[in-house]
Amino acid sequence: MSIFRSKVVLGLSAVGTLAGCAALLKDCMQGARFERKDVRADGKVVIVTGSNTGIGKETVMGLANRGAHVYMACRDMAKCEEARQDIVLETKNPNVYCRECDLSSLQSVRKFVQQFKTEQNRLDVLINNAGVMRCPRSLTAEGIELQLGVNHMGHFLLTNLLLDLLKLSAPSRIVVLSSIAHTRGKINAEDLNSTKKYDSAEAYEQSKLANVLFTRELAKRLEGTGVTVNAVHPGIVDTELMRHMGLFNSWFSSLLIKPFVWPFLKSPISGAQTSLYAALDPSLEKVSGQYFSDCAPKDVAEQAKDDKLAKWLWAVSEKWTGTLTGTAAVS
Ligand SMILES: NC(=O)c1ccc[n+]([C@@H]2O[C@H](COP(=O)([O-])OP(=O)(O)OC[C@H]3O[C@@H](n4cnc5c(N)ncnc54)[C@H](OP(=O)(O)O)[C@@H]3O)[C@@H](O)[C@H]2O)c1
Repeated sequence: MSIFRSKVVLGLSAVGTLAGCAALLKDCMQGARFERKDVRADGKVVIVTGSNTGIGKETVMGLANRGAHVYMACRDMAKCEEARQDIVLETKNPNVYCRECDLSSLQSVRKFVQQFKTEQNRLDVLINNAGVMRCPRSLTAEGIELQLGVNHMGHFLLTNLLLDLLKLSAPSRIVVLSSIAHTRGKINAEDLNSTKKYDSAEAYEQSKLANVLFTRELAKRLEGTGVTVNAVHPGIVDTELMRHMGLFNSWFSSLLIKPFVWPFLKSPISGAQTSLYAALDPSLEKVSGQYFSDCAPKDVAEQAKDDKLAKWLWAVSEKWTGTLTGTAAVS
């Protein structure tokens, strides 16, 4: 009996040691933090898209903590209100607002901007955070493949419609959530809408490459205006982003994959740090067209430096979103 008991004690202490090591490893994997607690955002007006959960919610938390007036641009108003209440309770900042903006509908984006402009005559920071990953093939209201439509096209229209306010409020900033996945991305110029063939991973990677090319082209167009635009990779973060990936949501994964992956994932708070850095760090006031990860500049993939491709994508995006004409034309 005493041998059995000592084996149990040994077993338990091994489990304890393993759990301790995993927690230590997780701590090390959280990445750089935006440490500038002295940097305030009092009175600054900020929009964060897709902020009812994950990285977006923690970004709003960080901004509200620093005194910003934050507009949460979300599609699910019940979820948004729940998140807003958490943020107001935690930060004691009442200036956090929920506004409807479904990036899979260009009409919804236009309506959001129209409403926003009746409420505010300035915009200091726009954070294009919302994203969808590896969903089954589906289309936006205007017929754009969903990942390209939400991650790039919806934000393309939103940003362009808000440029006048951003310019009036300069120095002002735009932050675009891209991903390290852009390094595997290709812009499929022959079949941008994935009509002939759809691979959910490739469509996500294409949309995240589009985010970096958009940032590059926009930075050029904004030269001399006092408005900057930078892209970020938040790290690999434990959020709802994998909701469409069956394997990661199964009981098999909960038991056998997640415990091993967990120590390597950032928390949503850690995932928000580079967005906060790009939005607020005073050293970045004149920095534009860059890509940051872990609160530091990083190089982008070769295909993300292709100026001709960035211009081509810009022209197609203008047409598909009807940015100039008001009429979307997807082809
Ligand atoms: N997590 C990571 O490891 C990781 C890595 C690299 C880059 N990123 C990028 O970081 C950003 C934030 O992702 P996350 O990890 O925080 O994911 P998340 O927890 O799934 O949050 C995504 C947010 O986007 C919103 N959204 C989705 N479709 C939308 C639409 N049509 N209109 C408006 N909002 C919409 C979601 O709203 P609902 O709740 O209503 O769906 C949610 O608020 C994304 O752009 C993602 O690509 C994440």
